[in-house]
Amino acid sequence: MDGRDLVHSVKTVGLVGAAQRLRTVRAAWRRRRADAAGLPARGAERARVPGQVREVTPGPGGGVLRFGRSALRITVAVNGAVFWGWDGAGPEPSYALAGPCPEPDPRAVLEPDKDGGWRVVAERMTVVVSRNGAVEVRTPGGVTLRRDLPPRWWEPVEGGPARWLQRSEVPADARFFGLGGRSSGPRLRDGTYRLWNTDQGRAFVPGDDPLYITMPVQLVVADAGTHLVFHDSSWDGTVALREGEEGAGSGHDRAGTCETRMEGGPLRCWVIVGSPARVLHTWAALTGSPALPPAWALGHHHARWGFGSEQEVRRIVAGYREHGLPLDAVHLDIDHLDAHQVFTVDQERFPKLRALAEDLRGDGIRLVSIVDPAVKAEPGNAVYDSGTAHDAFVRDTSGRPVRGVVWPGEVVYPDFTHASVRTWWGTLYEERLAQGFSGFWHDMNEPTSFAAFGEPTLPRSARHGLEGRGGDHREAHNVYALCMARAGYEGLRELTPRQRPFVFSRSGWAGMQRYGGTWSGDVATGWPGLRASLSLVMGLGLCGVPYSGPDVGGFDGSPSPELYLRWFQLASFLPLFRTHASLRAGRREPWEFGAEVLEHARVALVERRRLLPYFLTLAHLARRTGAPYVRPVWWGSPEDRALRDCEDAFLLGDCLLVAPVLDPGTDRRAVQLPRGLWYDTATEQAYEGPGQIVVDAPWSRVPVLARAGAVIPTRGADGGVELEVWAPAGGRTGAGLVVPDSGDGWEEPEIERYVTRREGSRVVVEREGGSGGEPPRPVRVRGLGEH
Ligand code: GLC
Repeated sequence: MDGRDLVHSVKTVGLVGAAQRLRTVRAAWRRRRADAAGLPARGAERARVPGQVREVTPGPGGGVLRFGRSALRITVAVNGAVFWGWDGAGPEPSYALAGPCPEPDPRAVLEPDKDGGWRVVAERMTVVVSRNGAVEVRTPGGVTLRRDLPPRWWEPVEGGPARWLQRSEVPADARFFGLGGRSSGPRLRDGTYRLWNTDQGRAFVPGDDPLYITMPVQLVVADAGTHLVFHDSSWDGTVALREGEEGAGSGHDRAGTCETRMEGGPLRCWVIVGSPARVLHTWAALTGSPALPPAWALGHHHARWGFGSEQEVRRIVAGYREHGLPLDAVHLDIDHLDAHQVFTVDQERFPKLRALAEDLRGDGIRLVSIVDPAVKAEPGNAVYDSGTAHDAFVRDTSGRPVRGVVWPGEVVYPDFTHASVRTWWGTLYEERLAQGFSGFWHDMNEPTSFAAFGEPTLPRSARHGLEGRGGDHREAHNVYALCMARAGYEGLRELTPRQRPFVFSRSGWAGMQRYGGTWSGDVATGWPGLRASLSLVMGLGLCGVPYSGPDVGGFDGSPSPELYLRWFQLASFLPLFRTHASLRAGRREPWEFGAEVLEHARVALVERRRLLPYFLTLAHLARRTGAPYVRPVWWGSPEDRALRDCEDAFLLGDCLLVAPVLDPGTDRRAVQLPRGLWYDTATEQAYEGPGQIVVDAPWSRVPVLARAGAVIPTRGADGGVELEVWAPAGGRTGAGLVVPDSGDGWEEPEIERYVTRREGSRVVVEREGGSGGEPPRPVRVRGLGEH
C-alpha cells in the first residue's frame, strides 16, 4: 500500500462505519487474489515495429499496405473522416461508433508518393504513409497537421494482448484539448494523462487525474488547422503530451509531441480535419447525435445527499417559492432508497413519494432519482434476485459473481456489456417512473468498489460479455458506464416512448452523448474547484459531450458566500445548472448565504429562465450539428493565438461570451474578445475585437458580452418567445436561429431563421424564408445607444 492508497482508504472509509471499513479491506484482498489467479503475468515480451512496406492493395476510400511485420488499413469515409488501423484492424466493432461504419469515399485513392511511400488524397486532407510506416496527415495545401511515427508493439512471448505505443508530432504552436473530463484543462499542458475512468474516492482538485470520464479523444488546434484524433481502444493507457516551441529568429521549431500508450486493444484511429465546428459535426456523425434534454432539464436543479424525508423536500421547495427563486428539478440522492438498494424507494421516510412528485409537478418541478449500478448482494432483495435469475452479474474467472463494496455494503455488478442485461436493467426504471420520477442520475459507475488499497474498481480479470465477444475488465472498464447509460436510455424509451429521457452519468466514454450528459462529480469546494468545473465542461464539449455542469459550491466543504455566488453565476450559464451538497458539507440553498448572495442568486436564476429558449435552441443545434453549447472563445477563429490560450471565458452558442469570475476579491476582469463588435450586456457599451478589454464584475453579476447582430430567443413575461436583438455594427448584418421548443416530447419544431440589418439608426429584423417580412415574435433591440 503506498501513501496515495492510504489516503484513499482513509477518505473512503471515513464516510462509513467499522463494518464497512472491514469490507473494504476484504474487497481489496479479494480483488488482488482474483487477479493473481485470473490474470497470468505478462512474462517475456517481444518488441515489433511494422518494417518496410512490401505490397499495396488499393480499395474503396484507400486500401491496405502490407509491411514486413504488420498491415495498415486506411479508409477515408464519405463524411470526410479518415480511419486507419494496424495489424489489419477495422473500425468495427466499436463502442464509440453510433452505428455501422460510414461508407468509404470512392474518390479517395491510394497512389504512390515519393521515396517509396504512398498517399491517399481526399477532399479535406492528404494522408501520406512512409515506406517504414510513419503516417502523416496534411492539409490539402500540404501543411502537416500530425505525424505519427511507426508504432511499436510489445507482445508477450506466451501469447496475450500486445501493448502498444504511438508517438506523434504536431506543429510547434499546437495546443491540446480533450481526453474526456480533465480537471486541469481546458488547455492540456505538458504531462501524462491516464485513460482509466476513476473515482478518486474523495473530492478532486485541479491536477487530480484521471477522473470519472476519460476518452482517447484529442482536439489539436494549430495555425495550420484543427484536427481531432480518436484512438478507438477502451483499454487502460496513458497519453503524454508536450507542447512544442517555436524557434525565435532563425532557431528551429520544436514540434509538440504526443505519446499514446495502451495496455491492449487494436491500434486504430480516426482523424477528422477542418474548422472546430466541422470537426465536431463529423465527430457527432460518427459517434452519435447528443441526446436532446427535456426543456425542464435546462432549468435549475437542486440536489442534496441527505434530504432524508419528504417533509424536508417540501420545506426546501417552499423556500425556493417564498424567496421568488425559480426551480425546475429536485434530485434525490441515495438516502431516499431502501438501505441504499438500487431500485427500491425507502417506504418509511418517503411513503408518499408519488403524491410529492405530483404536487411538485403541479408547480413545474420534476424529481430526479439517483441510480447506482451496484446491487446489494442479499437474497430477498428483488433486484438481486431478478438479476441472478437473468444471469446479469459480472463473474470472475472461476464463474462466481464478483463482489465489491459500495454504499449498501457487499454488492454485485450488472454486466452492461451484454445486450440482454441492458434490456433487463432498462425494465427496472419502471419502479422509479411509477413513483413519479422524471429523470435519472447515474452514479458510482466507473464502476466504483471501495477498496482499502489498490484500485477502487472491479478486478481486471473479471469476465464481461462484450457483446458476445467475451473479454475481461481491462477492456470493459472504460465502457461500463457508457453501456449503463445505454441501458437506462433505451429502457426509458421503451417505458415512456413519448418523452425524451433525461439521463446523466458520472462516468462514460466516447459516444456517451447519445444517451445523455454528465456532471462534474465530486469537485472540491474551493476556488481551484470552481476553475476545474469550467475545465470539465469545456473539455467534454470538445469531446462531443455538450450537456454537463458542476456541483455548485463543490462537494465536500462549506463555500464562502463569495465562492458560492461566483460558482452559482458560472453554472447559470452552463447546460446543467445544479446545486448539490454532500452529507457532511454545508447547505446549498441560495438563502443560506445571506441577503446579498440571495439577491444576486435570484438575478442569476431569473436570467437563466429568461434565456431558456436560447438554451433549448442550443440543445437542438447540438443535436443537429454536434456543436457544444459552451465553446472555447477560439471556436470561430482558432488561428487567433491569444484566444487559443484563453481559458477563463467561453462562448455560449454564437451570441454570448461569458466571462465568469474565477478568483476571490474580483470586481473587474480582463476579457479577451474575438473579432467583431461586442456589447457588455449590462451597460450596452460596445467594444471592438479582437483584443483585450477590462470590464466591471461586481458581486451582482459576471460579465456577459453579446455579439453585434445576435438574435437571441428569450422568454417573455407571458412565457412566450421574444427576440432580443443586438444592433449590428453600421453597414453590417446579423442573424440568429430559434428552435421553439418548450416540451419534453419528440415533436420537431421548425427552425426559425432571423436576419437583422442596420438602416440608419434603425435595426430591421426579418424572418427568413416562410412568409418573410416582419417577425411573428416580439422584438427588443438593444445596443443602439452607443454608436
Ligand atoms: C457520489 C456522488 C455524489 C453523491 C454521493 C452519494 O459521491 O458523486 O454526487 O452525492 O455519491 O450518493
